[in-house]
Amino acid sequence: MPIETWFPLAIYYEDLPDASEHRQPLIEAVLDLEQEGIEPQNYNEMAWTGDIHGVNQIHTHPAFSWIVEQVEQHTTTYLENIGVDLSKVDLYIQRAWPIVSRTGQEVGAHCHNTAHVSAVYYIQVPTDEVSDPGSLLFFNDARVNEVCPGLGSENTDIVDAENDLNQLYVAYPPVEGRLLIFPAKQRHAVSMNETQELRLSLSFDIVLTATGDVAGAYEFLTPPPNQWKKFKC
Ligand SMILES: [Fe+2]
Repeated sequence: MPIETWFPLAIYYEDLPDASEHRQPLIEAVLDLEQEGIEPQNYNEMAWTGDIHGVNQIHTHPAFSWIVEQVEQHTTTYLENIGVDLSKVDLYIQRAWPIVSRTGQEVGAHCHNTAHVSAVYYIQVPTDEVSDPGSLLFFNDARVNEVCPGLGSENTDIVDAENDLNQLYVAYPPVEGRLLIFPAKQRHAVSMNETQELRLSLSFDIVLTATGDVAGAYEFLTPPPNQWKKFKC
């Protein structure tokens, strides 16, 4: 009695071979940026995320040039694997920011609604092997097997056997030196850092636009920004 599964979510990751030589300079760059942040920390239970604290352009910062190059290379590989013809799209890093997670801090569920592809890179990960260092959780919002909408919600106990066909989320524990890429629209969160150590990561938001000369592309892709005209008023 086979039960087959279809329509997989594509989560890509690569452990970057030269991560260790870039570790310390990246740690210092992130902690410096946190200190320089123009906005105060919003909530103590939330990790410090550069995007809401005025630090969201690290892709233009020389200290991050190595990881930016890695993001570009691996994002193109990811897109090729999901079938995108890279000759017909232009790729942009739209914004990028550091995340500093201390003991007891987490990141709530969200999507990156203004981007198409997102990437995260783990610079420093707690070494505590017992406690959760803060894992990346992807939520199963499509719930294609939830035969009665809402049946698997936390308000019921009707679905009592969790298995691969009804799982509501998947957790990716952070791995130092790992670059992970996923669709930006995929809702996700980061669980609480339950260790006594710092977890440092970087987030990148990537946008696809049309190259400018592909017939019909503008139905599905934003025209190239160099064709836009900003209002004068
Ligand atoms: Fe995110």
